[in-house]
Amino acid sequence: MTDLRSELDTIQREAEERLATAGTAAEVEQLRHELLGRSGRVTAVLKRLGSLPPDERPALGQAANEVRGRIDAAIGARLDALRANDLDRRLAEETLDVSAPGRPVPVGHLHPVLTTMRDLREIFHAFGFEVFEGPEIETEEYNFELLNIPPDHPARDLWDTLYVAEPGSVEAGAPRPAEDGTILRTHTSPTQLRAMFALAPPIRVITPGRCFRYEAVDASHAFEFFQVEGLVVDRDTSLADLKGMLEEVARALYGRDVRTRFRPGYYPFTEPSVAFDIGCLVCGGQGCAACKRTGWMTILGAGMVHPEVLRAGGFDPDHYQGYAFGMGPDRMTMLRHGISDIRLFFSADLRFVTQFTEGR
Ligand code: PHE
Repeated sequence: MTDLRSELDTIQREAEERLATAGTAAEVEQLRHELLGRSGRVTAVLKRLGSLPPDERPALGQAANEVRGRIDAAIGARLDALRANDLDRRLAEETLDVSAPGRPVPVGHLHPVLTTMRDLREIFHAFGFEVFEGPEIETEEYNFELLNIPPDHPARDLWDTLYVAEPGSVEAGAPRPAEDGTILRTHTSPTQLRAMFALAPPIRVITPGRCFRYEAVDASHAFEFFQVEGLVVDRDTSLADLKGMLEEVARALYGRDVRTRFRPGYYPFTEPSVAFDIGCLVCGGQGCAACKRTGWMTILGAGMVHPEVLRAGGFDPDHYQGYAFGMGPDRMTMLRHGISDIRLFFSADLRFVTQFTEGR
């Protein structure tokens, strides 16, 4: 009897000590198993009650049940405490400060010239134009002949062309232009013919794209640049249509107050030809270095499609007219932002391009 009593006391004391130091729920569960499990120590005491004299059984049975109840309650309390600690720890560790300012995620943007070209595409879309693209590697036929610029025509001197070399001629130490007339296009105008061959009137297309000229590079000349060509072929178009539309385009791009003017120009593939100027945005028309003291800046050439070009495109000039224009988005972008050197566009200098983030 005293044996079992002291055994119960020992069990309870040890249980309290071990529970106090148990740091994990698994340790507590292990203790529950050792003491209260089917072959646990408290269970063993209860089993031995039967061997006691009958008059001692009730008191000791009650004592054993009390110890079991106390241990069970202590285990429950310890588990609760451990879980609460665990939750506190996780709450502390996994705190998310939802009021903290976000870390900036760097997002790229379009090159400023591409932004201008995208804006032009939107503006011309509103005028019913669709995009029609042509190849950057062209033939002399498309770049010149079909545009009413025959091989001996002095107008060919207007463009210093980058020729593709005849295969083998470079290796032989005597480079010469390819016999099949392959060149890098000097303007987007060859696409006028490609559009006339591919589409049926009414044709209203723009061709944005890259062009190449053998240029002495300076602040306003690059050997690689962009153009946006426009072509309309229909039964009834006029210079007045062209004029009205280009004035609207200038206003859409540079604001309602922009000043515009048309001057006579010359291109072999348009007749009559015009140059389109806008009032200098750098000096407001007073005259400055950017506008060469004239107060005006030319942003495009245009005109009525020459009858010979219409004929080359398969149209009878007695029944069809058209107008065409070719604009320089590099120059137009310089005007937009007050950029003084065209070479910056091709410099791949992030300090420059990252200033123009509007083209997302
Ligand atoms: N292709 C001409 C140039 O590069 C521009 C132009 C296009 C002029 C269409 C008239 C019509 O200078």
